[in-house]
Amino acid sequence: MKALVVGGGGREHAIVRALRRSAHAPEVLCAPGNAGIAADAECLPGIAADDVEAIVAIATERRVDLVAVGPEMALVAGVVDALEQAGVPAFGPSAAAAELEGSKAFAKELMKEAGVPTAGYVLLRSREEAVEHLACASYPAVLKADGLAAGKGVILCATEAEARAAVDVFFTEQRFGATTVVLEEFLEGEELSLLALCDGGNVVPLAPAQDYKRIFDGDQGPNTGGMGSYSPVPGFEQADVEEIVDSVHRPIVAAMARRGRPFHGVLYAGLMIGAEGPKVLEFNARFGDPETQAVLPRLRSDLVDLLLAAREPGGLAGMSAEFDSDWAVTLVLASAGYPESSSSGDVIHGLAAAAELAEVTHAGTAARDGEIVTAGGRVLNVTALGASPAEARDRAYDAAGRISFEGMQIRTDIAARAVERVPS
Ligand code: AMP
Ligand code: GLY
Repeated sequence: MKALVVGGGGREHAIVRALRRSAHAPEVLCAPGNAGIAADAECLPGIAADDVEAIVAIATERRVDLVAVGPEMALVAGVVDALEQAGVPAFGPSAAAAELEGSKAFAKELMKEAGVPTAGYVLLRSREEAVEHLACASYPAVLKADGLAAGKGVILCATEAEARAAVDVFFTEQRFGATTVVLEEFLEGEELSLLALCDGGNVVPLAPAQDYKRIFDGDQGPNTGGMGSYSPVPGFEQADVEEIVDSVHRPIVAAMARRGRPFHGVLYAGLMIGAEGPKVLEFNARFGDPETQAVLPRLRSDLVDLLLAAREPGGLAGMSAEFDSDWAVTLVLASAGYPESSSSGDVIHGLAAAAELAEVTHAGTAARDGEIVTAGGRVLNVTALGASPAEARDRAYDAAGRISFEGMQIRTDIAARAVERVPS
């Protein structure tokens, strides 16, 4: 069997490795991949993740049996529709179903219709309308640009003045090109990422995870794509997970089916767990990054079987995803300047020594003159397993300590909360 993974980050590296552990023993291709993925799969560096035509062409030419898509851009661009039309089995939502991530306004309206708990909100359709609403909103408040914004489309505003500035940015800056902005109530609590596989009707939850979005320790500084993660999460046992899936994922999947946009793929709910219980912050239509790097190494079930089943309407009936009891902690090693900018071309040392202790997946790396160099904001992920959060965490930090490159940034408090809650 032959599998193709679309994307070239740490998430895709983790997916490649999980596919290779399958009993189907697939030959794995990755488009475009990166310097680290090249050790585990045949990379196709000339093919960008959102180049739908090129992906369909290569998948057809190479007779691929399963495509797994990582990034949202490719999904929203319709890569799964195009592949399936060409007769290539592809895991992920159609463009119509990926709108759950592609449009925050669509997601909010759907949650309202399906009775899914989320922050109160108003949709602002113009700057003038926004100014009116901002004058009577309570602060802090949250503003979100409607479209995909690579993690930059959410601004937490402490005052009306900050909110006005955010609205100006969203409505005027080309990269947002927003025609709608969501003004949302600020929620307090603890964040949880709960990803589930969906087949248009059935929902199979994956292990819960927590990620760390801010660049600095203590959740300070700007939001990033994610600086670390761990799984499972103390306090969220199987019964709690089922309860969340019943109140969030299942009603959404049912609502999507009613709208004629059946959701196949990963439905990722970003949740805030507060005094009133879980509320949805956002939906993603794909695997999370870096949650996937902590979740998939613990997966005991066959990923190929699960992904193929999710393509078929009702295919996941009677299936479940089983996980090891081990804890996993993932650290992100980022380059200087991230998240505002990133640096590249710096030689990375210590990769082999780190790999003796932990699983090292590559995000932004490139090969140059026989060495691995940095090539992006998030450079590497280090994932360690352990019988307790403390063991996994210590091992992850020991392994990361063996890696060095110019300007390397790493948070020192990843999974500290889990260690406190589960004394070893
Ligand atoms: P999102 O992309 O919608 O998940 O937002 C990115 C991050 O902004 C979330 O992970 C939260 O940390 C924060 N955030 C989003 N919405 C809210 C909200 N309503 N209240 C508090 N924090 C929020
Ligand atoms: N970890 C956040 C995301 O994948 O969007």
